[in-house]
Amino acid sequence: MKGIKIKNLISKFKMATKLGDNSAMKEKTLNIGYKRTCSCSEKRINCLTGKEWVKDQVAIQEFYYTKDDIRDKNIHPATFPIALPAKFIEMFTHKGELVLDPFVGTGTTLVAARQAGRNAIGFDLKKEYIDFARKRLNQTTLFNHTEQILIQDDAINVSKYIRPETVSLCVTSPPYANMLNKPRLNKSMRADLRKNEHYLKIQQYSNNPRDLGTMEVPEYARAMSDIYKEIFPLMKQKGHCVVNVNDLWWENHRILTHVYLIAALEKVGFELRNILIWDKRNLVNHVGIFGYPSNYITLGSTFEYLLDFWKP
Ligand SMILES: C[S@@+](CC[C@H](N)C(=O)[O-])C[C@H]1O[C@@H](n2cnc3c(N)ncnc32)[C@H](O)[C@@H]1O
Repeated sequence: MKGIKIKNLISKFKMATKLGDNSAMKEKTLNIGYKRTCSCSEKRINCLTGKEWVKDQVAIQEFYYTKDDIRDKNIHPATFPIALPAKFIEMFTHKGELVLDPFVGTGTTLVAARQAGRNAIGFDLKKEYIDFARKRLNQTTLFNHTEQILIQDDAINVSKYIRPETVSLCVTSPPYANMLNKPRLNKSMRADLRKNEHYLKIQQYSNNPRDLGTMEVPEYARAMSDIYKEIFPLMKQKGHCVVNVNDLWWENHRILTHVYLIAALEKVGFELRNILIWDKRNLVNHVGIFGYPSNYITLGSTFEYLLDFWKP
Protein backbone atom coordinates (compact mmCIF):
# COMPACT_ATOMS: atom_id res chain seq x y z
CA MET A 1 0.00 0.00 0.00
CA LYS A 2 2.80 2.36 1.08
CA GLY A 3 4.78 1.31 -2.05
CA ILE A 4 1.87 2.25 -4.33
CA LYS A 5 1.48 5.63 -2.67
CA ILE A 6 5.18 6.43 -3.19
CA LYS A 7 4.99 5.22 -6.82
CA ASN A 8 2.01 7.54 -7.45
CA LEU A 9 3.89 10.41 -5.90
CA ILE A 10 6.95 9.78 -8.07
CA SER A 11 4.91 9.66 -11.30
CA LYS A 12 3.00 12.81 -10.28
CA PHE A 13 6.33 14.52 -9.57
CA LYS A 14 7.79 13.40 -12.91
CA MET A 15 4.69 14.65 -14.74
CA ALA A 16 4.93 18.01 -13.04
CA THR A 17 8.55 18.64 -13.92
CA LYS A 18 8.02 17.29 -17.43
CA LEU A 19 5.35 19.86 -18.07
CA GLY A 20 7.99 22.44 -19.01
CA ASP A 21 7.76 20.69 -22.35
CA ASN A 22 4.27 22.04 -22.87
CA SER A 23 3.74 21.28 -26.56
CA ALA A 24 1.18 18.53 -25.84
CA MET A 25 -0.84 20.57 -23.39
CA LYS A 26 -1.31 23.89 -25.19
CA GLU A 27 -4.69 25.43 -24.44
CA LYS A 28 -5.27 23.05 -21.50
CA THR A 29 -5.81 24.23 -17.99
CA LEU A 30 -3.61 22.52 -15.43
CA ASN A 31 -4.99 20.36 -12.71
CA ILE A 32 -2.87 21.61 -9.84
CA GLY A 33 -3.69 21.91 -6.13
CA TYR A 34 -4.62 25.34 -4.78
CA LYS A 35 -6.46 24.64 -1.53
CA ARG A 36 -4.84 24.99 1.86
CA THR A 37 -3.76 21.76 3.50
CA CYS A 38 -2.89 23.21 6.90
CA SER A 39 -5.29 23.46 9.82
CA CYS A 40 -5.23 27.27 10.15
CA SER A 41 -8.57 29.00 10.61
CA GLU A 42 -10.25 30.46 7.48
CA LYS A 43 -9.70 34.11 8.37
CA ARG A 44 -5.90 33.83 8.75
CA ILE A 45 -3.86 35.02 5.75
CA ASN A 46 -0.84 32.91 6.67
CA CYS A 47 0.45 30.34 9.14
CA LEU A 48 2.88 32.78 10.85
CA THR A 49 3.18 33.17 14.61
CA GLY A 50 2.79 36.65 16.11
CA LYS A 51 6.57 36.90 16.56
CA GLU A 52 7.25 36.09 12.89
CA TRP A 53 4.52 38.54 11.80
CA VAL A 54 6.18 41.40 13.72
CA LYS A 55 9.48 40.80 11.89
CA ASP A 56 7.68 40.96 8.54
CA GLN A 57 6.05 44.29 9.41
CA VAL A 58 9.39 46.02 8.91
CA ALA A 59 9.24 47.72 5.49
CA ILE A 60 12.97 47.37 4.84
CA GLN A 61 14.13 43.82 4.32
CA GLU A 62 17.49 42.20 3.66
CA PHE A 63 17.91 38.86 1.91
CA TYR A 64 20.94 36.59 1.71
CA TYR A 65 22.02 34.23 -1.06
CA THR A 66 22.70 30.64 0.00
CA LYS A 67 24.48 27.72 -1.66
CA ASP A 68 21.22 26.76 -3.43
CA ASP A 69 21.02 30.14 -5.16
CA ILE A 70 22.12 30.83 -8.73
CA ARG A 71 24.49 33.79 -8.99
CA ASP A 72 26.40 32.95 -12.16
CA LYS A 73 25.57 35.73 -14.63
CA ASN A 74 26.48 33.40 -17.50
CA ILE A 75 23.50 31.24 -16.54
CA HIS A 76 21.10 34.16 -16.00
CA PRO A 77 21.93 37.87 -15.62
CA ALA A 78 19.39 38.76 -12.92
CA THR A 79 18.26 36.21 -10.35
CA PHE A 80 16.85 37.01 -6.93
CA PRO A 81 17.70 34.99 -3.79
CA ILE A 82 15.38 32.12 -2.80
CA ALA A 83 14.83 33.98 0.50
CA LEU A 84 12.95 36.76 -1.32
CA PRO A 85 9.98 34.82 -2.76
CA ALA A 86 10.14 32.60 0.35
CA LYS A 87 9.36 35.63 2.53
CA PHE A 88 6.20 36.47 0.56
CA ILE A 89 5.14 32.84 0.26
CA GLU A 90 5.20 32.59 4.07
CA MET A 91 3.44 35.93 4.40
CA PHE A 92 0.62 35.54 1.86
CA THR A 93 -0.09 31.83 1.49
CA HIS A 94 -0.89 28.70 3.44
CA LYS A 95 0.56 25.25 2.85
CA GLY A 96 -0.94 23.62 -0.23
CA GLU A 97 -1.98 26.89 -1.89
CA LEU A 98 -0.92 28.01 -5.36
CA VAL A 99 1.88 30.48 -6.22
CA LEU A 100 2.46 31.97 -9.66
CA ASP A 101 5.64 33.50 -11.12
CA PRO A 102 4.96 34.84 -14.64
CA PHE A 103 8.70 35.62 -15.21
CA VAL A 104 10.35 32.67 -13.53
CA GLY A 105 13.88 32.75 -15.06
CA THR A 106 15.94 30.06 -13.32
CA GLY A 107 12.95 28.87 -11.27
CA THR A 108 13.87 30.50 -7.94
CA THR A 109 10.24 31.07 -6.91
CA LEU A 110 9.41 27.44 -7.62
CA VAL A 111 12.33 26.26 -5.49
CA ALA A 112 11.06 28.46 -2.63
CA ALA A 113 7.50 27.15 -3.13
CA ARG A 114 8.66 23.54 -3.02
CA GLN A 115 10.68 24.14 0.14
CA ALA A 116 7.62 25.72 1.77
CA GLY A 117 5.15 23.02 0.63
CA ARG A 118 3.23 25.22 -1.84
CA ASN A 119 2.12 24.40 -5.38
CA ALA A 120 3.52 26.70 -8.02
CA ILE A 121 3.50 27.53 -11.72
CA GLY A 122 6.25 29.49 -13.46
CA PHE A 123 6.43 30.93 -16.98
CA ASP A 124 9.38 32.12 -19.01
CA LEU A 125 9.72 33.04 -22.65
CA LYS A 126 13.17 31.49 -22.97
CA LYS A 127 13.60 27.74 -23.38
CA GLU A 128 17.15 27.80 -22.01
CA TYR A 129 15.93 29.20 -18.66
CA ILE A 130 13.03 26.78 -18.42
CA ASP A 131 15.38 23.85 -19.15
CA PHE A 132 17.78 25.10 -16.49
CA ALA A 133 14.96 25.61 -13.96
CA ARG A 134 13.66 22.09 -14.63
CA LYS A 135 17.08 20.60 -13.94
CA ARG A 136 17.36 22.73 -10.81
CA LEU A 137 14.02 21.48 -9.51
CA ASN A 138 14.84 17.88 -10.38
CA GLN A 139 17.89 18.15 -8.15
CA THR A 140 15.74 18.91 -5.13
CA THR A 141 14.81 15.53 -3.73
CA LEU A 142 12.34 16.89 -1.24
CA PHE A 143 9.21 14.75 -1.16
CA ASN A 144 5.95 16.46 -0.45
CA HIS A 145 2.48 16.51 -1.90
CA THR A 146 2.92 19.66 -3.95
CA GLU A 147 3.71 20.25 -7.62
CA GLN A 148 5.86 22.88 -9.29
CA ILE A 149 5.16 23.30 -12.98
CA LEU A 150 7.33 25.12 -15.51
CA ILE A 151 5.91 26.42 -18.77
CA GLN A 152 7.82 27.90 -21.64
CA ASP A 153 5.42 30.53 -22.93
CA ASP A 154 4.72 34.24 -22.97
CA ALA A 155 3.21 35.36 -19.66
CA ILE A 156 0.36 36.96 -21.64
CA ASN A 157 -0.97 33.38 -22.05
CA VAL A 158 -1.29 32.57 -18.33
CA SER A 159 -5.05 32.20 -18.45
CA LYS A 160 -4.78 29.30 -20.93
CA TYR A 161 -3.16 27.23 -18.20
CA ILE A 162 -4.58 28.37 -14.88
CA ARG A 163 -8.13 28.21 -13.58
CA PRO A 164 -9.82 31.43 -12.35
CA GLU A 165 -9.60 32.33 -8.65
CA THR A 166 -7.02 29.67 -7.76
CA VAL A 167 -3.80 31.69 -7.26
CA SER A 168 -3.11 32.93 -3.72
CA LEU A 169 0.14 34.75 -4.51
CA CYS A 170 1.82 36.03 -7.66
CA VAL A 171 5.42 36.92 -6.88
CA THR A 172 7.99 37.85 -9.49
CA SER A 173 10.86 39.94 -10.69
CA PRO A 174 10.03 40.99 -14.25
CA PRO A 175 12.64 42.54 -16.55
CA TYR A 176 13.13 46.20 -15.57
CA ALA A 177 12.22 47.40 -19.08
CA ASN A 178 15.32 47.58 -21.32
CA MET A 179 17.78 48.18 -18.48
CA LEU A 180 20.09 45.29 -19.45
CA ASN A 181 19.87 46.05 -23.14
CA LYS A 182 22.98 48.20 -23.34
CA PRO A 183 26.70 47.60 -22.87
CA ARG A 184 27.54 47.22 -19.19
CA LEU A 185 29.85 50.03 -18.03
CA ASN A 186 30.17 49.05 -14.34
CA LYS A 187 30.24 52.79 -13.56
CA SER A 188 29.53 52.36 -9.87
CA MET A 189 32.47 49.99 -9.39
CA ARG A 190 35.96 50.97 -8.34
CA ALA A 191 37.91 52.12 -11.42
CA ASP A 192 40.50 49.32 -11.11
CA LEU A 193 37.74 46.67 -11.08
CA ARG A 194 35.48 48.10 -13.78
CA LYS A 195 36.91 46.11 -16.68
CA ASN A 196 35.78 42.74 -15.37
CA GLU A 197 34.44 39.79 -17.42
CA HIS A 198 31.04 41.52 -17.79
CA TYR A 199 32.42 44.89 -18.96
CA LEU A 200 30.77 46.12 -22.21
CA LYS A 201 28.65 42.95 -22.42
CA ILE A 202 24.95 43.26 -23.23
CA GLN A 203 23.23 40.88 -20.84
CA GLN A 204 19.71 41.00 -22.22
CA TYR A 205 17.54 37.90 -21.80
CA SER A 206 16.66 37.49 -25.50
CA ASN A 207 15.92 39.33 -28.76
CA ASN A 208 12.33 38.17 -28.79
CA PRO A 209 10.18 41.29 -29.36
CA ARG A 210 7.79 39.95 -26.69
CA ASP A 211 10.64 39.94 -24.16
CA LEU A 212 9.82 42.81 -21.79
CA GLY A 213 13.55 43.41 -21.47
CA THR A 214 13.66 44.72 -25.06
CA MET A 215 11.02 47.43 -24.49
CA GLU A 216 11.27 51.15 -23.74
CA VAL A 217 9.50 52.07 -20.51
CA PRO A 218 6.10 53.29 -21.90
CA GLU A 219 5.72 50.21 -24.14
CA TYR A 220 6.91 48.04 -21.24
CA ALA A 221 4.27 49.52 -18.92
CA ARG A 222 1.54 48.76 -21.49
CA ALA A 223 2.79 45.18 -21.90
CA MET A 224 2.87 44.69 -18.10
CA SER A 225 -0.66 46.05 -17.85
CA ASP A 226 -1.84 43.58 -20.50
CA ILE A 227 -0.17 40.65 -18.70
CA TYR A 228 -1.56 41.57 -15.26
CA LYS A 229 -5.02 41.98 -16.81
CA GLU A 230 -4.78 38.26 -17.65
CA ILE A 231 -3.46 37.42 -14.17
CA PHE A 232 -6.20 39.36 -12.32
CA PRO A 233 -9.06 36.84 -12.80
CA LEU A 234 -6.77 33.95 -11.81
CA MET A 235 -6.17 35.45 -8.37
CA LYS A 236 -8.24 34.53 -5.34
CA GLN A 237 -10.08 37.42 -3.70
CA LYS A 238 -7.55 39.38 -1.61
CA GLY A 239 -4.71 37.38 -3.18
CA HIS A 240 -1.44 39.32 -3.22
CA CYS A 241 0.77 40.21 -6.17
CA VAL A 242 4.36 41.20 -5.34
CA VAL A 243 6.55 42.79 -8.01
CA ASN A 244 10.27 43.37 -7.52
CA VAL A 245 11.48 46.31 -9.58
CA ASN A 246 14.18 48.95 -9.73
CA ASP A 247 14.18 52.43 -11.23
CA LEU A 248 16.51 53.15 -14.14
CA TRP A 249 19.25 55.71 -14.53
CA TRP A 250 19.57 56.61 -18.20
CA GLU A 251 21.45 59.46 -19.87
CA ASN A 252 21.57 61.44 -16.63
CA HIS A 253 17.85 61.03 -15.91
CA ARG A 254 16.05 58.95 -13.33
CA ILE A 255 13.28 56.83 -14.86
CA LEU A 256 10.68 55.86 -12.29
CA THR A 257 9.86 52.35 -13.44
CA HIS A 258 8.12 51.61 -10.15
CA VAL A 259 5.67 54.49 -10.72
CA TYR A 260 4.85 53.22 -14.23
CA LEU A 261 4.27 49.77 -12.77
CA ILE A 262 1.96 50.95 -10.02
CA ALA A 263 -0.16 52.75 -12.64
CA ALA A 264 -0.08 49.69 -14.95
CA LEU A 265 -1.35 47.29 -12.28
CA GLU A 266 -3.91 49.66 -10.75
CA LYS A 267 -5.34 50.23 -14.25
CA VAL A 268 -6.36 46.56 -14.44
CA GLY A 269 -7.86 46.38 -10.94
CA PHE A 270 -5.02 45.63 -8.49
CA GLU A 271 -4.65 47.91 -5.47
CA LEU A 272 -1.24 48.86 -4.07
CA ARG A 273 -1.13 47.83 -0.40
CA ASN A 274 2.52 48.14 0.64
CA ILE A 275 5.89 49.28 -0.61
CA LEU A 276 8.79 47.36 0.85
CA ILE A 277 12.42 48.19 0.24
CA TRP A 278 14.85 45.40 -0.53
CA ASP A 279 17.96 46.67 1.24
CA LYS A 280 20.84 45.34 -0.87
CA ARG A 281 23.73 46.87 1.05
CA ASN A 282 24.78 43.41 2.23
CA LEU A 283 25.29 42.45 -1.44
CA VAL A 284 27.10 45.55 -2.69
CA ASN A 285 30.87 45.62 -2.66
CA HIS A 286 33.77 47.19 -4.55
CA VAL A 287 31.87 50.48 -4.79
CA GLY A 288 33.65 53.31 -6.58
CA ILE A 289 33.11 57.07 -6.50
CA PHE A 290 30.27 58.07 -8.80
CA GLY A 291 29.36 61.60 -10.00
CA TYR A 292 31.88 63.32 -7.68
CA PRO A 293 32.22 66.29 -7.31
CA SER A 294 29.52 67.79 -9.55
CA ASN A 295 26.61 65.38 -9.84
CA TYR A 296 25.05 63.70 -6.79
CA ILE A 297 23.48 60.38 -7.75
CA THR A 298 22.65 57.66 -5.21
CA LEU A 299 23.82 54.16 -6.03
CA GLY A 300 20.96 52.36 -7.76
CA SER A 301 22.40 49.03 -6.67
CA THR A 302 21.77 49.63 -2.95
CA PHE A 303 18.00 49.05 -2.92
CA GLU A 304 15.07 47.84 -5.01
CA TYR A 305 11.31 48.12 -4.66
CA LEU A 306 9.02 45.30 -3.63
CA LEU A 307 5.56 46.48 -4.63
CA ASP A 308 2.77 44.59 -2.91
CA PHE A 309 -0.70 44.72 -4.50
CA TRP A 310 -3.86 42.76 -3.84
CA LYS A 311 -7.05 41.91 -5.68
CA PRO A 312 -9.51 44.01 -3.72
C1 LIG B 1 14.52 39.26 -13.84
S1 LIG B 1 14.31 37.77 -14.74
C2 LIG B 1 13.62 36.69 -13.51
C3 LIG B 1 14.67 35.98 -12.72
C4 LIG B 1 14.13 35.06 -11.65
N1 LIG B 1 13.52 35.78 -10.55
C5 LIG B 1 15.24 34.17 -11.09
O1 LIG B 1 15.56 34.24 -9.90
O2 LIG B 1 15.84 33.42 -11.91
C6 LIG B 1 12.97 38.09 -15.81
C7 LIG B 1 12.63 36.95 -16.77
O3 LIG B 1 11.49 37.34 -17.56
C8 LIG B 1 11.56 36.60 -18.79
N2 LIG B 1 10.61 37.25 -19.73
C9 LIG B 1 10.74 38.42 -20.41
N3 LIG B 1 9.62 38.70 -21.11
C10 LIG B 1 8.74 37.69 -20.87
C11 LIG B 1 7.40 37.41 -21.28
N4 LIG B 1 6.74 38.22 -22.11
N5 LIG B 1 6.81 36.28 -20.80
C12 LIG B 1 7.48 35.43 -19.96
N6 LIG B 1 8.75 35.64 -19.56
C13 LIG B 1 9.38 36.75 -19.98
C14 LIG B 1 13.04 36.69 -19.16
O4 LIG B 1 13.41 35.65 -20.03
C15 LIG B 1 13.72 36.59 -17.77
O5 LIG B 1 14.17 35.28 -17.50
